[in-house]
Amino acid sequence: HNADKGEFKHYMLKEIYEQPDAVARTLEMALDNDEPTKLRDDFLQRHETQLKGIKHVQVIACGTSYHSGLVAKYWFESLIRVPCSVEVASEFRYRNPVVIDNSLVICISQSGETADTLSALRDIQKQSPIGLVSLALCNVPTSSLVRETDIFLPTLAGPEIGVASTKAFTTQLAALMLLLLKVGVTQQRMTAENLSTLLGQLQQLPGQLHASLHLDAPIKIMSEHFQYKKSCLFLGRGLQFPIALEGALKLKEISYIHAEGYAAGELKHGPLALVDKDMPIVVLAPKDSMFDKLKANMQEVHARHGELFVFASESSQMVAADRLHVVYVPDVCETLAPIVYSVPVQLLSYHVAVMRGTDVDQPRNLAKSVTVE
Ligand code: G6P
Repeated sequence: HNADKGEFKHYMLKEIYEQPDAVARTLEMALDNDEPTKLRDDFLQRHETQLKGIKHVQVIACGTSYHSGLVAKYWFESLIRVPCSVEVASEFRYRNPVVIDNSLVICISQSGETADTLSALRDIQKQSPIGLVSLALCNVPTSSLVRETDIFLPTLAGPEIGVASTKAFTTQLAALMLLLLKVGVTQQRMTAENLSTLLGQLQQLPGQLHASLHLDAPIKIMSEHFQYKKSCLFLGRGLQFPIALEGALKLKEISYIHAEGYAAGELKHGPLALVDKDMPIVVLAPKDSMFDKLKANMQEVHARHGELFVFASESSQMVAADRLHVVYVPDVCETLAPIVYSVPVQLLSYHVAVMRGTDVDQPRNLAKSVTVE
């Protein structure tokens, strides 16, 4: 495999850098430069009748793919008012869950071979609720998951080698947004104006991802603060909460530093007790509707001598200070910010892991695809 790494030291870094192209490719399934105000006619065209009938979305996934499902929940409910539940497959399959009639069951999986995700899907199919539509959001077209579902929505990330998922995650998010737009249009839950605004924002996304790669150098410097840490907290609110979870997952997977992602509003209910000068706190802080609330959360941490590492918008005017480090992320609309803010947390965990000398592409005890329970 060595040759395919090109100029990069690890597959993970190569795959982080492939994200602008991978996301652009994925978006092209539904976006047409010549028709910037509507979805391509052929996007999921064969499935319009099925998508028209669904009243609820149930996402099932594991690991990083579960985190993209969490973002989808915020999107589906806030943008098109379709109720959406998300659950890890290993829990869902064993608790005899209710699957609501007319559900779209979205199984998200890079590999399409994750045992728990496949089993959860099969259990739902056995129950055969009325109006069930199953969809595989998957990076491997020949996988079991794709064979066993009604609809295949591909992520066009290309093969992902690094065990820690990066480009599969951001392409999942891009594809989930396309699916949301398709459901929104098909069910007339979206005005032409809202559609055209979101399409315009999506057109800008690959460029913004490209710009976020310029954060590599400042984040490498920031990562030096993490080398000897034992534990780390990631905070976010709203659409950034799942990215906080994903940032914590990435850091523990490849650097072996204990990390937790938390909804910043929950700080007072526990994690604040952990805060001291030795625990770094990473904050995802785009200038969005939650920014002022988040600033209050940051002050709570700072007042307790916590050291903050903040990813903030260029326009936020946050200024570095004592125990307050800031890296500026390119400005991006609130809706798509979780995709762009994925990049700095990936780069942070990558550089911390390299500094600690771990096997970045093949972290101990983990597998790329978990095909047995
Ligand atoms: C393993 C991998 C993760 C991945 C998870 C789910 O734990 O190490 O990177 O997110 O499986 O895999 P899937 O192929 O179903 O997305």
